[in-house]
Formats: sequence, C-alpha cells, structure tokens
Amino acid sequence: MINYVIHGGKPLHGKVHVSGAKNAAVGILPATLLVKGVCQIENVPDISDIRLLQQILEYMGATVRRLKNGLLEIDCTHAQDVMAPDELVKQIRASYYFIGAQLARFGHVTIALPGGCHFATRPIDQHEKGFQAMGTSVAYMTDKVQDMTWFSGTTGPEGLVGSRVNLDVVSVGATMNIMIGAVLAKGTTYIENAAKEPHVVDLANFLNAMGADVSGAGTDIVRIRGVKELHGGFYSIIPDQIEAGTYMAAAAAVGGDVFVQNVIPKHMDTITSKLREMGVKITEYEDAIHVCSNQRLRRATVKTMPYPGFPTDMQPLTSVCMTLAKGTSRVIESIYDTRFQYCAELQKMGADIQFQYSSETERMRAEISDDQIPKSAIINGVEKLHGCKVKACDLRAGAAMVVAGLAADGTTIVSEAQHIERGYENMIEKFRGLGADITRVTVPDPQ
Ligand code: EPU
Repeated sequence: MINYVIHGGKPLHGKVHVSGAKNAAVGILPATLLVKGVCQIENVPDISDIRLLQQILEYMGATVRRLKNGLLEIDCTHAQDVMAPDELVKQIRASYYFIGAQLARFGHVTIALPGGCHFATRPIDQHEKGFQAMGTSVAYMTDKVQDMTWFSGTTGPEGLVGSRVNLDVVSVGATMNIMIGAVLAKGTTYIENAAKEPHVVDLANFLNAMGADVSGAGTDIVRIRGVKELHGGFYSIIPDQIEAGTYMAAAAAVGGDVFVQNVIPKHMDTITSKLREMGVKITEYEDAIHVCSNQRLRRATVKTMPYPGFPTDMQPLTSVCMTLAKGTSRVIESIYDTRFQYCAELQKMGADIQFQYSSETERMRAEISDDQIPKSAIINGVEKLHGCKVKACDLRAGAAMVVAGLAADGTTIVSEAQHIERGYENMIEKFRGLGADITRVTVPDPQ
C-alpha cells in the first residue's frame, strides 16, 4: 500500500513537463500485436498500467525493451496464440484492447473481463457489437466460485470481415478496439458515432505509421480499409490531456504560477475555458500553457461530455477547484453513473457538497433501479479545506485528493495512492518541482 503525505497550503511555482498520453499508449501497446516487425514508440509514460500491458505482451512472446526515457521498442513478430494471464488482465481496463488485437492476429481470443477503475458499471457490449458485425461469434463463461467472467470470440474462416458498425453510445474503448480489429480485416469497416478523443486520433496515426489505412479519426465516422499486413516503424505519442489538466487544476486550486509544458493547447480548450471562467489567468503558447491563479476562484457549472466536451476524467479535479470557489457550483456527470464516490473524501476535508438525484422519469428511461445514484453535485465553496486522512478511490479521484491536499491547511494523507500511479508518471517529483511538500510512503497492507 502506498500513501502520499502532503503538507498543504504552499502556492505552486515553476515548470512541469507532461508525459505521453496514457489512454493513447494503452491502446497502442496491444495494437503492436498486429505488427510483424519492430515498433519504436516514443513518449510512452512509465506508469503501472503500461508495465502491466508490457508484461502481457511479454507473456505472449513479444520482446519489449525500454531504451531510454519514454522510448519503448516492441517486437511482436514471434508472439504466440496464448491466453493473457487473468491476474494481469483483471488489473487494467485497457486489457480489452487485446480482444481486437488477438482476433485480428489469431482469429480468436479468450480473455478475462477487464478490471481498472471501478467508479461505475463499465460494460463492453459495444465492443462486442462491433466484433459480431465483423463476423465474430461471441460467448461468455463465468466461474461463480472465482467470481470471474471470460469473453471468448472466434472469427469466421476468413478472419475479421469489414462491416458498418453504428455505436449506440459514444465509446472511446469500443472505437479504438474495433479500429484495431479492422486494420487487418478483409474489406472496409466504418465506425459510426465514433469517439473523437485525441487518443482515438493518436491510435489511428500510430496504425497508419505502421502501414494501416485509417481515415476520419477525430470525426463521427472512422473508415478503416483492411490491409494485408503492417510493418514496423517509429511513432511518437501525444502529450496526456488529463495529466496536463491535472497540473492546470492544481495551479488553479492551490494558487501560484505554473508553466505546463509539452501540451497540445487545442486538446485543452474546454478545460482552459472552464478555468478562465473561474477567474484563472491562462496564456497559451505553441506547446505550453501558463496558469496563474492568485485570487479566490469564481463558481461555475460543468457538464461532462464526450470530446470535444468537458472530459469526465477532469470531473473530480474540477470539483476540487469548485470546493474552494466563491458561490455555488454544479457538476453534472453524464458519462458515468456513479462517479461521485470521491466526494465523501472531500467532505472529510471540509468541502460542502450535496447531491441531486435523477428524477423518476430519468431513472426509468435509464433503467436505473437504485434511487441513490446522484445525477449532479452541488458544491458550495468554502474558504479553506483542512488536511486529514483520505482515500484515493480510483486514479482521477486520487489525483483530485492530492490537489485538495496541496490546497488544504495542515497535513493530508492520501491512502491507496497506488491507484494514482496507474496513470501519472512521477507525480511526486513533478509536484515537488513546483515547490509542493509531498512524500511517498510505503505502508504494509492491512490485509
Ligand atoms: N459504454 C457502454 N458500452 C460499451 C462501452 C462503453 O455502455 O461497450 C458506456 C460506458 O458505460 C460510459 C460511456 O459508454 O457510460 C463511455 O465509455 P467509454 O467506452 O468511452 O470508456 P472506456 O473506454 O471504458 C475510456 C478511458 C477512461 C475515460 C473514458 C471516457 C481508457 C483505458 N479509459 O474508458 O479513462 O474515463 O474513456 O473518456 O482509455 C482514466 O483515464 O482515468 C479513465 C477512466
């Protein structure tokens, strides 16, 4: 178990360098399974989610080497048709990308249902719908004793076949997974109502750099013309939008003057404009953003939406800013039904948060039986948060607790901080570089 110990209340000053995008890298690594040749991938963040995917690839017979900071060399030429180990798959959401990759490479896959952050129900029916449209027969197997379910898919004799897939919900994972599967399929695949996140585009760019024919990524319709094979090559992953947003939110909530370097300012538009609305002074440069916050923040309303809307992954971090803003703010979560668990931790620190629940009609429409699912959080800003022991419920909730701790008076201990290390490279060092008093402590697991 890992705890972060924070002595808060010190403004942040200086420069912070953003790492490569986690949610692009976690799609690109499994996609290397399609390539017979060496892929050199730059800007791969050194985080635990990536190390897990690396272990799965190595288990399958790939050679993976971290050459220098951020440069990963992967050769899947001799990868074997084996099942990814359950204990690794269960720890990470993005292991679902092996469904597309293994179906494309081997014509079948059996894999445990993915793990990852448990802030909501996270079905994979849209992934399944895509692969079924491409000729895959799907089955699920459940072992009640182990409380495990496995997904199993087998393509027809010709492998995956190009098809038209209209997604019922805009899904990042389904868009990227179907894209991976379609690259070597026979014929052309269209993904309609596709997700448009920067990492979706980055995966398409990676695949094209290796010889694929993907167009339209970043729009509602992605077209993938199947090619016979992919070749090795070099690719550089984009900067992480949410990591950049985390340091921006930290500068806003804690106060100070921070240069967030290695960003694509366009990807930050909704975050930048929301923070500006709250009174933060932000200047954009070609690949950096300067954030200056020296007065109490103003209230705001935010509603999470698929890109280019406000990212759900920034929701907990924005809430921290709102807990300290003047007036009453509102957060409406429209992607995940239960992503407010972390609010109980913020309340321990003195935040004033109430919830509004779905109306009866909305619950019936969404087939939600539990009337305790909050639809939005109403945050009455307080002058100060105070340090105490809080828990990192998941990756972004954990990052939000760190920011709250940095802004709070006194000492905050963020327990279960291993969740944070799934997605943030060197967070401790980066915050220390900005003048924060934050330490990582390993403690024995109470169990
Ligand atoms: N959904 C379905 N069926 C599906 C897939 C999704 O109903 O088959 C629903 C989800 O329940 C959700 C919505 O569609 O309500 C969007 O889910 P999406 O598939 O886009 O999410 P995901 O692929 O599981 C990725 C990121 C998340 C990020 C979301 C939304 C990865 C590995 N994860 O998850 O990132 O919150 O997109 O942008 O890329 C994080 O980085 O902390 C993180 C959780």
